[in-house]
Amino acid sequence: MTDRVDTPRETVLKAHGIRKVFRTASTELEVLKGVSLEVRRGEMVAITGASGVGKSTLLHILGTLDRPSEGELEINAEDVLSLDGDSLAQFRNRHIGFVFQFHNLLPEFTALENVMLPGMIGPGPVAEVRDKAMELLASVGLEERFDHRPGELSGGECQRVAVVRALAMNPLLVFADEPSGNLDAAASNALHEMIVELSRSEKQTFMVMTHDQNLAQSLDRTGHIEAGVLHLS
Ligand SMILES: Nc1ncnc2c1ncn2[C@@H]1O[C@H](COP(=O)(O)OP(=O)(O)O)[C@@H](O)[C@H]1O
Ligand SMILES: [Mg+2]
Repeated sequence: MTDRVDTPRETVLKAHGIRKVFRTASTELEVLKGVSLEVRRGEMVAITGASGVGKSTLLHILGTLDRPSEGELEINAEDVLSLDGDSLAQFRNRHIGFVFQFHNLLPEFTALENVMLPGMIGPGPVAEVRDKAMELLASVGLEERFDHRPGELSGGECQRVAVVRALAMNPLLVFADEPSGNLDAAASNALHEMIVELSRSEKQTFMVMTHDQNLAQSLDRTGHIEAGVLHLS
C-alpha cells in the first residue's frame, strides 16, 4: 500500500475553464477567459503576468475566496464550488494557507501569537501549537523575535512571520500573492530563498503570484497570464 500523503503525483487542485467577468453598471470586464490547470502535491508553481492581468483574481478564485463566473474547481478531490457558507469556510481553514503582499498580521499580538492563532481555533493541545509555531519561526531565523509585535519587526521579518503562519496548520496548499511586492531587493531575495527552502523541507504545495522573474524561475513550474489566458510551462 502506498501512503497517499507521500504520493508525489497526487493532484491537489484541478481547475477547468475558469472564467471571471466583473460587471459594473456600464461595463463588463472579462479578466479570465477560461483558465485550466492541475497542481500536484509538493509542486511549487509561479504565475507571472503584468499588473492588472488577473493574478489576484485567479488566486482568490483558486483559494475559494471568490467565485468564478463559470468553470470547475476541485481541491483535494472536493467540488469546492458546491460548498458555501460555513462548510466552505471550514474547508478553507483546514486546507488552504494564504500569504498576501501586506502581511496582515494582527498588530496587538506578538510574532509567536500571530503564528499560533490559526491553530488555537482547532482542537489540538496549545503546547503542540506553540511548539510547532516556535519551530517554524526558528527555521526562518526568527528565534530572537518571538515576543516582537509586527510594529517591532522589519517588513521582511513580518513577511517571514506571515509565511510561517500560513504553513502552521499544515495546509494542503499555500497561495501567496506578490509576497515580496512590498520589500526591497535584499529582503525580497531572502524571502524567496526562504519560501523555496520551506516548501522543500515541509513538502508544501505552493502557488505564488509574482511579477518577479527570479522567484518564478526558482520554482518548479511557471505560468504566465496574458489577455485572460494562462500559459503553463
Ligand atoms: N472586484 C472587482 N470589480 C471590478 N474589476 C475588478 C475587480 N477586481 C479586479 N478587477 C479588475 O480586474 C483586473 C485584474 O485585477 P487583478 O486580478 O487584481 O490583477 P493583478 O493581480 O494581476 O494585478 C484589473 O483590471 C482590475 O481592475
Ligand atoms: Mg495582484
